[in-house]
Amino acid sequence: MLVFGHRGFSGNYPENTMLAFRKAVEVGADGIELDVHLSKDGELMVIHDEALARTTGKEGFVCNYLRSELEQIKASKTQNDRFDESIPSFEEYCTFASGQKIVTNIEIKSGDWWYQDIERKTVDMVYRFGIQDRVIFSSFNWLSVVRCKSIAPEIPCGLLFAKEQDVKRVAYLAKDHGIEYLHPDFHLVDQAMVDDCRRTGVEMNVWTVNTPKEMEPLIRCKARSVISNYPDMCLKELGR
Ligand code: G3P
Ligand code: CA
Repeated sequence: MLVFGHRGFSGNYPENTMLAFRKAVEVGADGIELDVHLSKDGELMVIHDEALARTTGKEGFVCNYLRSELEQIKASKTQNDRFDESIPSFEEYCTFASGQKIVTNIEIKSGDWWYQDIERKTVDMVYRFGIQDRVIFSSFNWLSVVRCKSIAPEIPCGLLFAKEQDVKRVAYLAKDHGIEYLHPDFHLVDQAMVDDCRRTGVEMNVWTVNTPKEMEPLIRCKARSVISNYPDMCLKELGR
């Protein structure tokens, strides 16, 4: 089973910051999950919410600010402002990832906001830094996932979901579109689901798995990977 740091090692460090990404690598995570949006000048930025308030304390939305402005904004609110980290551009992240072996799960946050060409821009950046062999695209917006798949069929993709689904049907839908993974909320996952998907030729990367109690059934089910705020805990549970 693979272990991804959710927004980096976000349990102990400010989410979606370079510090959280470095710390996930330091504890031995196999991968990093992060979220991308577009700035006012159309640049890819790594942050979870459309609005800046929760992670930075600032007013407004990512799309109201230029990249150069966002890069100056402290993004440490999720850890009580204890760290001096700012919002990273996706370019900064890719510079880091190009020197690492880790896999990056790039979640395209195109659900609530329409960002022109975000999928094309993400694919282009991944190729510019040569990390295309170590990337998974995912989104709750399945049109975005299909778009990524049609732009770069060679890069694996996952369909994200948080609500109950007819998983067999979703697995067939994924398979039919050449999509390799389902990315369900861990509450939805059981052995039958993992087995049904596997029979269809689709694997499961499950989020957000934050306690040993949550890990245990997923280890038993042999899910492909877990995405956790505490990658260190997951690795320990796996005896790694
Ligand atoms: O990609 C898994 C997970 O990150 C999806 O939910 O809200 O944490 O981005 P969210
Ligand atoms: Ca995410």
